[in-house]
Amino acid sequence: MSDDLESTRQFLQRHHGGDGHRAAERTVTSHGRNHDEDFWAFWDKYTPRADNRHVADLGCGPALFLKQLAAKHPGYTLTGIEIAPYMLARIDDKPHNLDIRIADLNAPGEEVFPPASIDACLANMLVHELFQPVILFQRLHRWIKPGGLLVLTDNVRQPLENFLHHRFPDTDFSSDALSPQDLNDSFRDYFEHNRYTADELVRLLELCGFEPIEQQQLREGRALRIAARNR
Ligand SMILES: C[S@@+](CC[C@H](N)C(=O)[O-])C[C@H]1O[C@@H](n2cnc3c(N)ncnc32)[C@H](O)[C@@H]1O
Repeated sequence: MSDDLESTRQFLQRHHGGDGHRAAERTVTSHGRNHDEDFWAFWDKYTPRADNRHVADLGCGPALFLKQLAAKHPGYTLTGIEIAPYMLARIDDKPHNLDIRIADLNAPGEEVFPPASIDACLANMLVHELFQPVILFQRLHRWIKPGGLLVLTDNVRQPLENFLHHRFPDTDFSSDALSPQDLNDSFRDYFEHNRYTADELVRLLELCGFEPIEQQQLREGRALRIAARNR
């Protein structure tokens, strides 16, 4: 295994709270909330109707979204990309049309997909976990067909004060004793989960060759869903 793959895995294990199996369990239990009726309405609005499409899910976790798609569209070709062993371990009973590949989406090789081979692509809560998304967006610009779709959902930056009040409820920051370790961890978590504003994400997509066509605010503005067309 390459050093980069291993160091990304170590970063993610810590980012996911140090316990990968619990993180995978959380991903399973939050699947319905992250892929609710509104999500499916948004997805169906922009994805092609035909039944022989290639759809990719980036950072697919236990691949529940892809399994739902497989059940709805047996004619689709489905590809999930994932790196965390504890997420990969949850992918059992793979439908015949689902392929899972292991790659580091911080700098995926050009060969992961042939050029212009993907019709639609989802990245649900992936981008904030990347060290930077530029190389991935460049690759997607090459891999997704011209006019094809990228749907991206992620946290967007919230004020530090809101985050601190949520993390340390009923705390008087002017006088209460706080553990340095808890504070160190909370500031690290803040910056890892609040990397980009909505405008920054939109602009990054534009810079990398996509045309954002719709944005939805989620969770009172703490998250964003974007549909973007590949130019
Ligand atoms: C918050 S989870 C979301 C999982 C899934 N998309 C969902 O919505 O249920 C983010 C996923 O992205 C994966 N991931 C994060 N960084 C990655 C990277 N550099 N390469 C591949 N997968 C990555 C994580 O392991 C994790 O499974």
